[in-house]
Amino acid sequence: MKKIIIAIDGFSSCGKSTMAKDLAKEVGYIYIDSGAMYRAVTLYSMENGIFEGESIDRERLRRELERVNISFRFNPETGRPDTYLNGVNVENRIRTMAVSAKVSPISALDFVREAMVAQQQAMGREKGIVMDGRDIGTTVFPNAELKVFVTASPEIRAQRRFEELKAKGQEADFDEILANVKQRDDIDQHREVSPLRKADDALLLDNTNLTIEQQKAWLMERFREAVNDGAENTDNNPKDRD
Ligand code: DC
Repeated sequence: MKKIIIAIDGFSSCGKSTMAKDLAKEVGYIYIDSGAMYRAVTLYSMENGIFEGESIDRERLRRELERVNISFRFNPETGRPDTYLNGVNVENRIRTMAVSAKVSPISALDFVREAMVAQQQAMGREKGIVMDGRDIGTTVFPNAELKVFVTASPEIRAQRRFEELKAKGQEADFDEILANVKQRDDIDQHREVSPLRKADDALLLDNTNLTIEQQKAWLMERFREAVNDGAENTDNNPKDRD
């Protein structure tokens, strides 16, 4: 069966990564969480004095970026990939509120985006990949065969994030999380470089009132359509025949 690229974009905490991970597992594709890459750069900046309060030492980050190595390794215990920063597993540390609060300004820097997009495009060269983020269908893979843009109300997203942090035994305050969700929406949508927006050819999915199972079924159906669509086109196109 021919392999495709699946781009899943949307607002923060609306379940993009859960659906992307589950789909990748189901169809045997590689899953890449592009947000984890921006989070890893943020963690690096926080731990290496690149943040001075709220301001960022851009020149230092620009110089040091080539030494920031981000990779993913499959974790057999969770069945999902963990994020590594310079060889160290940072999967839990990049998910804290402290990192969430600082990631938007880092991901708004043009040179950071350029470096991450180049790495993401390299990861998709062989296709057979599900990538989630904010600009996957617009900038990273504008020719992806299946694009989904996910949204849900800010309140329901904050609630999900709250429960996720609680389940991990981390500190969580609903109002603080809701404020963070809204603030990130605003920065993500209004930044100059690659703002969050739905690609014209992306399918819109509002999952405010959907269960995970309903969402899974919907996505599998879209996957089958996208793969079959490609197969039909291939069959009908003499140039693609051997
Ligand atoms: O998906 P997430 O919440 O883990 O993403 C963390 C931040 O990274 C988010 O505030 C926006 C940014 N991001 C981005 O700018 N582009 C992407 N492709 C993915 C994430």
